[in-house]
Amino acid sequence: MVGLYSVAVLLCAGGALAGVNYPVIPKDLTTPFQQRLAVYGSNAVSVGWNTYEQLSQPCVQYGLSADKLDTKACSSSSTTYSTSRTWSNVAILTGLTPATTYYYKIESTNSTVDHFLSPRTPGDKTAFNMDVVIDLGVYGKDDFTTSSKKKDTIPVIEPELNHTTIGRLAETVDDYELVIHPGDFAYADDWYLKFSNILNGKEAYESILEQFYDQLAPIAGRKLYMASPGNHEADCSEIPYLNNLCPKGQNNFTDFLHRFENTMPHSFASSSSNTTAQALARKARSLSNPPFWYSFEYGMAHIVMINTETDFPNAPDGTDGSAKLNGGPFGAPHQQIEFLKADLASVDRTVTPWVIVAGHRPWYSTGSSSGCDSCQEAFEGLFYQYGVDLGVFGHVHNSQRFLPVVNGTADPNGMKNPKAPMYIVAGGAGNIEGLSDVGTKPAYTEFAYADDYSYSTLKFLDEQNLQVDFIRSSTGEVLDSSTLYKKHTTQFVQQ
Ligand SMILES: *[C@@H]1O[C@H](CO)[C@@H](O)[C@H](O)[C@H]1NC(C)=O
Ligand SMILES: *[C@@H]1O[C@H](CO)[C@@H](O)[C@H](O)[C@H]1NC(C)=O
Ligand SMILES: *[C@@H]1O[C@H](CO)[C@@H](O)[C@H](O)[C@H]1NC(C)=O
Ligand SMILES: *[C@@H]1O[C@H](CO)[C@@H](O)[C@H](O)[C@H]1NC(C)=O
Ligand SMILES: *[C@@H]1O[C@H](CO)[C@@H](O)[C@H](O)[C@H]1NC(C)=O
Repeated sequence: MVGLYSVAVLLCAGGALAGVNYPVIPKDLTTPFQQRLAVYGSNAVSVGWNTYEQLSQPCVQYGLSADKLDTKACSSSSTTYSTSRTWSNVAILTGLTPATTYYYKIESTNSTVDHFLSPRTPGDKTAFNMDVVIDLGVYGKDDFTTSSKKKDTIPVIEPELNHTTIGRLAETVDDYELVIHPGDFAYADDWYLKFSNILNGKEAYESILEQFYDQLAPIAGRKLYMASPGNHEADCSEIPYLNNLCPKGQNNFTDFLHRFENTMPHSFASSSSNTTAQALARKARSLSNPPFWYSFEYGMAHIVMINTETDFPNAPDGTDGSAKLNGGPFGAPHQQIEFLKADLASVDRTVTPWVIVAGHRPWYSTGSSSGCDSCQEAFEGLFYQYGVDLGVFGHVHNSQRFLPVVNGTADPNGMKNPKAPMYIVAGGAGNIEGLSDVGTKPAYTEFAYADDYSYSTLKFLDEQNLQVDFIRSSTGEVLDSSTLYKKHTTQFVQQ
């Protein structure tokens, strides 16, 4: 949120129409930018990227070595919207051997080869790490925020990003296999905080998006990077005075949808031998609605991405929502909740012992009035009923960890085989609005930090132990580390 004072200052300042910081349009309009990978199935990866012209047939060549890219995937999907300078392209790479390094080259007269690790097969019990990044925001010229030998090559990032969460993700590129980012990407909707943008909202909005996704590309083009929506993918009317200055493309998750609609997966078919579980997973797949709500499996984890913005009763960004953003709906009435029910009920813990649900707005948070009550009403009961192990949220700009808790009461077992889900808030990755004070701490608070930018790493150690770390972005220091122990002896949890 932004204080009204800044609106007042800004309305007075007005004036100076300085140029926005658009990246230079390359001579070769097929040049790929804003690369982003995602898990698309147990043997599939999507490659998304943007170009400054529409492509008739976006293609990616791939293979097991940099000089033998012997397979090719193409699509006919190259889309844009009225206020954007770029087109979003996609290709789906299929038939991948799990957990294997692949080399890929986006087809262009001006592109280079990069590589990624293909997804672990559901049921692979090998330990792996997954980073959690939320509320990130653009850096560099539009940085409104802050005035060792590796096995893998460190992705090249702009030096000005070194001290940021992106810098830390680059520096530690061997230490994690994938990233989840449940909402609040560029903070492009905060263009109006820079005085010179006041009469140039459309260009400012788009230039921040281009800069941000260029900045993210060294990470998202190397690591599987899973997206779901936050309020900043739709914000406009939080500042009513400026509502009519709001660019068209900013409304109703328009850019988010173009960028991720064809790159995020539908929920997977079940890997369970139980026919009830298979039927439930088929139902969940048909009700899933990427990039808004969907699940995917990776090794010993079943991970669900939910939409805390629209598509449930009193959803904050819905047409009658408290945030007055007039977004969605993106599915039929009850579709998201029915999806979540079927999806969680389908999870066979002998295949994927760990169940993680990630969304943008938390219901457990420090500080007063930071929690989303309608989210809690819609989702918490299902989390408990189906034994979700960990709920991951952001939105509040700091790091927080809570004991396993249900209905506001800590589980008597604590971290040793609780029935209630454990919750974290990992919203401190850095953005124009800065960090939020920790504020008042509920009794079940274990850790809260708002001194510097931070993010979280989930370490899936084995079928019973999940280590949750919070990392200080600028230094790499581990700020907090805890381990959740779950027996996971029940194949289909219902409580
Ligand atoms: C080729 O791509 C690079 C970025 O990867 C860009 O800086 C350069 O301008 C492009 N060259 C042409 C001729 O478009
Ligand atoms: C930033 O990191 C890169 C490596 O990613 C390094 O080459 C460069 O010297 C660093 N710059 C600063 C200012 O620390
Ligand atoms: C199959 O899974 C359902 C729950 O999804 C469970 O009730 C049932 O007992 C399981 N059947 C077998 C044969 O394990
Ligand atoms: C938002 O977009 C969705 C999907 O395109 C559409 O169904 C819905 O009506 C839109 N909502 C508003 C308020 O325009
Ligand atoms: C949580 O509260 C709901 C609503 O009052 C209730 O139905 C449910 O049984 C409670 N769950 C637990 C585990 O206490």
